[in-house]
Amino acid sequence: MRVMVIGSGGREHALVWKLLQNSKIEKIYCLPGNAGIASIAECVPDISVTDTPRLLNFASAKKIDFTVVGPEAPLSQGVTNAFQAQGLKIFGPTQEAAMLESSKIFAKNFMNRYKIPTAFSEAFDDKNKALDFIKKTGLPIVIKADGLAAGKGVIICQTYQEAETALENMLEKQIFGEAGTLVLIEEFLRGEEVSIFAVSDGVHYQILAPAQDHKAIFDGDQGPNTGGMGAYAPACIVDDELMQQIQTTIIEPTITGMALENRPYRGLLYAGLILTKNGPKVLEYNCRFGDPETQAVLPLLKSDLLELLIAASEGNLQNYQLKKHDLAAVCVIMAAGGYPGKYEKGQTIFGLNRKFDENVYIFHAGTKKVKDKIVTDGGRVLGVTAWASDVADAIKTAYTAVGKIAFNGAYYRKDIGHKALI
Ligand code: AMP
Ligand code: GLY
Repeated sequence: MRVMVIGSGGREHALVWKLLQNSKIEKIYCLPGNAGIASIAECVPDISVTDTPRLLNFASAKKIDFTVVGPEAPLSQGVTNAFQAQGLKIFGPTQEAAMLESSKIFAKNFMNRYKIPTAFSEAFDDKNKALDFIKKTGLPIVIKADGLAAGKGVIICQTYQEAETALENMLEKQIFGEAGTLVLIEEFLRGEEVSIFAVSDGVHYQILAPAQDHKAIFDGDQGPNTGGMGAYAPACIVDDELMQQIQTTIIEPTITGMALENRPYRGLLYAGLILTKNGPKVLEYNCRFGDPETQAVLPLLKSDLLELLIAASEGNLQNYQLKKHDLAAVCVIMAAGGYPGKYEKGQTIFGLNRKFDENVYIFHAGTKKVKDKIVTDGGRVLGVTAWASDVADAIKTAYTAVGKIAFNGAYYRKDIGHKALI
């Protein structure tokens, strides 16, 4: 089979790595890819993830049998619809189904229609009305841009001043453009966060290992939010009983509701949950694999990923038997100094060719090859991942590997996975 993966981050490196465990793959491309992916796949750096016409031309010209989409941007602009219209097979929801991520207001109304537990909220396009609402509701409060804002569209406000500034930035200065001309004001929820990945064929689904991301930049979940500084799986806080509750109160009504609304959800449904004292509630849906959770979840998957994704895209999950390894995995992100604020690119990365444990894999996120060197090319640079029989061992192995790699300004959290040890 000839396969292509769309995207360029650590998630896509993990997808390519796992897909390649299927011996039927004769050729795999990654568009655009990165320096790490280039060591296992053919990268096509000059095709952007949102250039649907060129993605289509490439898939036709190279006779691609199956495409897997990594990020949300191409899904929300309809890459799946375009591929399907030409008879090309692809894994990822249609534009209509991807609205669960691309419009937070759509997602919120949908959850309310199907009584899926989520934070109380209201939508506004006017700053003063929004502020009046916040005065009535009280603080802290969460303000969310309706559309896609590259992970920056959620502001947790502790004061009215912060709320006013956030509303001004989104509604008046339009710092997120169209994505922020409508905002959602949402009740602040307290609890542990977990990421649930369901592979859905539109009717049936299979659940991968639950994971916990570490969004804040500093140890102890302090400081500003990032794209994710590390992850571990399985999240032991989700026991069998809680997983059952999540499936019956959240995953099943979501898949059934989308089918009822003529937007059947075929793809990876990522439910970002918060475990409140009143039960699990949805913080957000994503229409794609999470990054960096995927780097920790896929090493635990025993089933063949290509077969699983093909079965989902063809509506064939009903009798599928998913198998998982009874292991734990930890992914520690090595980031550029300064991230998530300003940071430098182009720093040479040392140590990538050292000898690592066989249960370690270095997933590349923001890296680039310049002559014979691999240099940093983004905020999140590497996802150093290890798996072992328990999480404590996986943490130790991952950090030993981190210690072998260096670049100027390298920063990483020292407490990834520690939540699982308490
Ligand atoms: P989202 O993109 O909606 O997942 O929001 C990004 C992050 O903001 C989440 O991972 C949470 O850490 C935080 N967050 C979002 N909504 C809420 C909420 N209603 N209450 C508390 N924290 C939230
Ligand atoms: N890890 C958070 C995300 O993928 O959105």
